[in-house]
Amino acid sequence: ISLANQNYQSFLHCLYNNIQSSEGNSDIIYTPSNSNYTSFYLSSIRNLRFVNSATTKPLLIIAPTNVSHVQASVVCARENGFSIRARSGGHDYEGLSYREVDNSRRFVIVDLANLREIDVDVTRGTAWVQAGATVGELYYKISIKTNLYGFPAGICPTVGIGGHISGGGFGTMLRKYGLASDNVLDALLVDANGDLLHKDPMGEDLFWAIRGGGGTSYGIVVSWKVKLVPVPPIVTVFTINRVTKEGAIDLMSKWQSIAPRLHEDLLIRIVAQQIYEGGERQVQAGFNALFLGECVQLVELMETDFPELGMQRQDCKEMSWIESALYFAFYTSDISKEALLDRGTEPYRYFKAKSDFVKEPIQKSALEKVLSHLLDDYAGVIIMDPYGAKMDNISDTATPFPHRKGNLYNIQYFTEWTQNDTTTYKKRMTWIRNIYDEMEPYVSTNPRAAYINYRDLDLGINELVGAIASYDKGKIWGEKYFKGNFEKLALVKARVDPFDFFWNEQSVPPLFAGH
Ligand code: FDA
Repeated sequence: ISLANQNYQSFLHCLYNNIQSSEGNSDIIYTPSNSNYTSFYLSSIRNLRFVNSATTKPLLIIAPTNVSHVQASVVCARENGFSIRARSGGHDYEGLSYREVDNSRRFVIVDLANLREIDVDVTRGTAWVQAGATVGELYYKISIKTNLYGFPAGICPTVGIGGHISGGGFGTMLRKYGLASDNVLDALLVDANGDLLHKDPMGEDLFWAIRGGGGTSYGIVVSWKVKLVPVPPIVTVFTINRVTKEGAIDLMSKWQSIAPRLHEDLLIRIVAQQIYEGGERQVQAGFNALFLGECVQLVELMETDFPELGMQRQDCKEMSWIESALYFAFYTSDISKEALLDRGTEPYRYFKAKSDFVKEPIQKSALEKVLSHLLDDYAGVIIMDPYGAKMDNISDTATPFPHRKGNLYNIQYFTEWTQNDTTTYKKRMTWIRNIYDEMEPYVSTNPRAAYINYRDLDLGINELVGAIASYDKGKIWGEKYFKGNFEKLALVKARVDPFDFFWNEQSVPPLFAGH
């Protein structure tokens, strides 16, 4: 038997000895010969770009039902020379939770989907959430216990709590409460030695690093303790769509300086895309708002601060906070909140995204030029999320997420397609890369910043020196996501995972003292 095969057998043996459930362990350890292997592998993949014969599948998928299984997975993998990809919701834009780019290492997936208990403590206003739960499950569980609290995480309900909070996580309450990771009180992490640590034994620096430093550089988070945030019994939402002919670009131009300065209870984001109207393609800007209060106050605020949008009483939809989560996720609040529990099944689209941060309003003429690309044949969507308010009041170094004061808004460029052909693939990828290049003069510089949760491998990937990722090469992409915090992240990495066991193409490389 070859050495590789011997190691594989020894790895399996180690797992089988340490992982047992009432069913034996066939429901926890999926080898490729298991009939459920492929469907489980695909179950949380979101991006078809990585479902093809060129993508090597994992040698095993381990789906722990107990925290000790996560520990055993780490110990057994390390002992036998296998690497691990942790997967919670599988939403990674570049698929790093379930694939390796150059297929160089033998890897397994530790999929946390079965670890998704949520324990909401209304009296204390806190919750313990296991990593495999989704954002939608958390919102739902909060709402069945109370309408006094919510949680400031992302808009898409199928996103996994594990990866989302590891990279920051923001949604409609960003301006009032900051990121999901700003609201973490404690965590349980399995480190590279297989030890289970909560906040105190972790040490301040590691607890700092996992709250925004990106997934799996330091270990596998099995649960987060989060602070719930107060929400009023009635919130108000609106969506106002304006096309170019109705002054959409003028409004977007004004929005840039208005939206980041609005009252903290109000967030107005823009989704700009192409629409067909009267047989003509036009750019449409959708102004999508959540206000943590009632319509009458909102109308007053809008009349004072953003009268140009022409928002009126009849644009208001009053609802509970949980209904607003449905509204943003599904464009309607008229569905049962159980929809938030749907984790989705198989991937159905290909996509690519990129991100930017804007610090100075972009001139209208430049905006016009860039947005005109939304009218191209192979177009996508541009989403703008305003910062300011709470985001201005958290220092750049409080957590690894450095994009705070001075940022007006975040841009996400997103393109998707469903046809499986190389022409479409090439056109879409060229479209998004061209628009990104064209935006360069108008967005943040030195570095041109990006959001780790909108992972983009075009920014660079790790290069190995021996078996360990190089810090100097990592700076190329790392400082874009983390700016000056990248160095501290790398020092923490050297302390807690000096052998770089938790490696991926964009994991934080270790920086050793005296380097
Ligand atoms: P996934 O399981 O793919 O993991 C992502 C990364 O984290 C990988 O590197 C993985 O190894 C690591 N990881 C996963 N679980 C871990 C664990 N338990 N411990 C340690 N590391 C772990 N973002 C946002 O801020 N606001 C939003 O509104 C949205 N909306 C949105 C919609 C859609 C359709 C997609 C596909 C994505 C978003 N996102 C987003 C981005 C999202 O926050 C980001 O992709 C998260 O990393 C996804 O977390 P998952 O657990 O789902 O991903």
